[in-house]
Order: sequence, then C-alpha cells, then structure tokens
Amino acid sequence: MANEKAPGLDGVIVAETRLSDVDGERGRLIIAGRDVEEIAGSISFEAAWSLLQDATAPDAARIEQLRARLGAARVRAHALLPSLGNALEADDGMDALRAALSHCVPSDDATTIESLIGATAVFAAAWSRTHRSLPIVAPDPARSHAADYLRLMHDAEPSPAAVAGMDAYLVAVIDHGMNASTFAARVVASTGSDLVSSIVAAIGALKGPLHGGAPGPVLDMLDAIGDAENAEPWLERELLAGRRIMGMGHRIYRVRDPRAAVLEAAVLRLEQAGGTHGTPRLALARAVEKAATGILRARHPQRPLAANVEFYTAILLDALGLPRAAFTPTFAASRVAGWCAHVLEQRAGGRLIRPASRYVGFVPQSAA
Ligand code: COA
Repeated sequence: MANEKAPGLDGVIVAETRLSDVDGERGRLIIAGRDVEEIAGSISFEAAWSLLQDATAPDAARIEQLRARLGAARVRAHALLPSLGNALEADDGMDALRAALSHCVPSDDATTIESLIGATAVFAAAWSRTHRSLPIVAPDPARSHAADYLRLMHDAEPSPAAVAGMDAYLVAVIDHGMNASTFAARVVASTGSDLVSSIVAAIGALKGPLHGGAPGPVLDMLDAIGDAENAEPWLERELLAGRRIMGMGHRIYRVRDPRAAVLEAAVLRLEQAGGTHGTPRLALARAVEKAATGILRARHPQRPLAANVEFYTAILLDALGLPRAAFTPTFAASRVAGWCAHVLEQRAGGRLIRPASRYVGFVPQSAA
C-alpha cells in the first residue's frame, strides 16, 4: 500500500547503481568511479564505455578491441540504412532515431549493445546529412568512434583537436544518475523486455525539451544577444516576458553543473588550436553566462540557478560544426552506452518497477 506522495519521484531511490553518482549540492559527478573532470577531456569514448562495463582502467589493447568492435557495428548499421524505410526523412532527428533504432534486431547482449551504440551514431549522422540534403557518408571502421562520427557528419577529415573535443563531449554525457531517459530504459528492462525496446523508450524520453532538448535554444539565445553588451538588457526582457533562460538551472544541481566546466574547457582548447567551425563564441557565451547568473541570483536569492550541461554543449557542438538540429541526437549517440549499462544492471539485480498511484476519480456505489 502506497503511503507517500512523490510527484516526479523527487528523491525516491529506485535502484542501486555503480555507474554514476550526481551530488547536486557539491556539484560533483562521478562516472564509474572517476570524477567527470578526470576523464572528460583525457580519455576516449571507447575508454569511458569500457569503464562503464567493468570500472577498471582499460589498457591500450582493450581500447583497440572496443574501437574495432564499434567500427564493425557502424558498418553493420550503415548496411541497414536501405531497410529503414522513410525513418530518416523525419523532420526531427529524435523521431528519426526512434524509428530507425526499432529496426535493430536483438541478439546476444554484447552484440546488441555494440550494434545499438554503432547504430545511434550512424543513424544520427545519416539523418542529419539527409536533413541537409547531403549524401550519406559510409563509416570507416578503422577510426575511433568520435573521429568517425565527425567524418560521418561532415564528410571531411576531422582535426585532432576536433576529435579531442568530440571525445570530451561523448565522455562527459555518457551517464548521469537516474535521469528520465535512463529511468525509462530501466523501467522497460525491469519487465524482462529486450535491449532494443529499452533504448527506443529512452530515446522517446530524451527527446523532451525538459531533458535533452535545450542546447539548440541556447545558440538561438546567443544569436539573438549578438554582443556581450546586449546580454543584460536582453536577459531582463526575456525574464519580464515570463520566459526561462535556456542552459541555466537544474533539477539536481544547486551549483554550476560540473559538466559545464569540462565542456567549457574543451571549447577553449578547440579555440586555442584554431579548430572551431565558424565564429568562436566562447567569449560571448561566458559573458552571457555571467550576466544570467547575476540576474537569476538577484531574482531567486534562495534558489541557486547556474549554468547546466546544455549551455556549453551548445557552444562545443557548434564549434565542432554540428548543426543545432543534430545536438540532441548527438547526446543520444553518447548516452546510449549509459542506457545499455543500466539495462544490464537492472536485469542483474532489479525488480519489476511498478510504482503506485492515488485514485482521485469517481467511485461507484458498491452493489448492495
Ligand atoms: N530561467 C529563469 N528562471 C528559472 C530558470 C531559468 N532557466 N530555471 C528555474 N527558474 C526559476 C523558476 O521560474 C522558478 O521560479 P519561481 O519559484 O518564481 O516560480 C524557480 O527558478 C525554481 O524553478 P523550478 O521550476 O522549481 O526548477 P526545476 O528544478 O523544476 O527546473 C529546469 C529545472 C532545468 C527544468 C529549469 O531550470 C529550466 O527550465 N531551465 C531551462 C531549460 C534548460 O536549460 N534545460 C536543460 C536542463 S539540463
């Protein structure tokens, strides 16, 4: 019998996990036993994926093995493209991913996970190219996942600085506690359903603007502000109109999201290497963040509202030349590894997730 009301399940612990921990008061994110600052910017996506699997630092041979397996998975996904029907013609990249990933056929867990990670990247890039009326590029299995993702998006050789920036992003967002999409994946897994179904459910949850959909609007905001001097009046007008500042605030963090700092550092390295596509935006982004933090502090002295991951996701992915419509699918290309790890964990020790509700509808008179 339920005895607690917890709308949104705030603070309710539904699982034990060794995959990641979010400390919102101190602004600390631990992924598989490492602080996010330790790994994002210094290890590859393959190495982070390996950590999610067994929490042991992988050696070069292990990373090479995972790289080859993901390369083969990308090639398999590319071969599936002709059978996806009109999935890649969707207007929204997440709709395309949801439809396209449904075509993956579950087999043994290890193969299915590799297939899903490879397919999310290949389908996201193929959708983005189709969306821009550009020909789809075939994967190169010899490359790292980050390098090939940039190649699949741009049909051009990425610079080492760009690959490092892509890896920093993919590692920073690979897992993040019991967020909505991870929870969705675990709920489906808890029923005994298959991995592909869990990941398709997670894609649906990530699509929502309260979860994975904010980085595009952050760039729209920077475009509208244009110059650091305009930041304060623009932000004040936005708040007066009753709108929220995108990329600011978080359900869990009461300080700056630690991923904002690692992504900001990744943008700085990219700019210093001269590797950014288009106009460097870091200086403007920092000025807008500073102005927004000050204005929000004055308005909500009791409720700290600082930059979240999406603020510098927007700046980094834009600097890497990705179109803003591809930002959330790119998020999925990383987080799919976290989702799969959670599914295995749920299966290993979890119970059927089946919360209760309080009935507030009509109760018929009981028959005499
Ligand atoms: N801009 C302006 N005000 C904000 C704000 C923002 N980005 N985020 C929160 N607030 C205000 C709310 O209006 C509310 O004010 P009120 O008490 O006067 O009504 C107060 O701060 C508390 O907000 P609340 O809705 O309880 O916070 P939450 O934990 O439910 O929301 C977010 C978290 C992320 C949904 C929210 O901060 C937000 O909408 N941010 C912008 C979108 C975004 O960046 N999303 C990506 C998240 S990673």
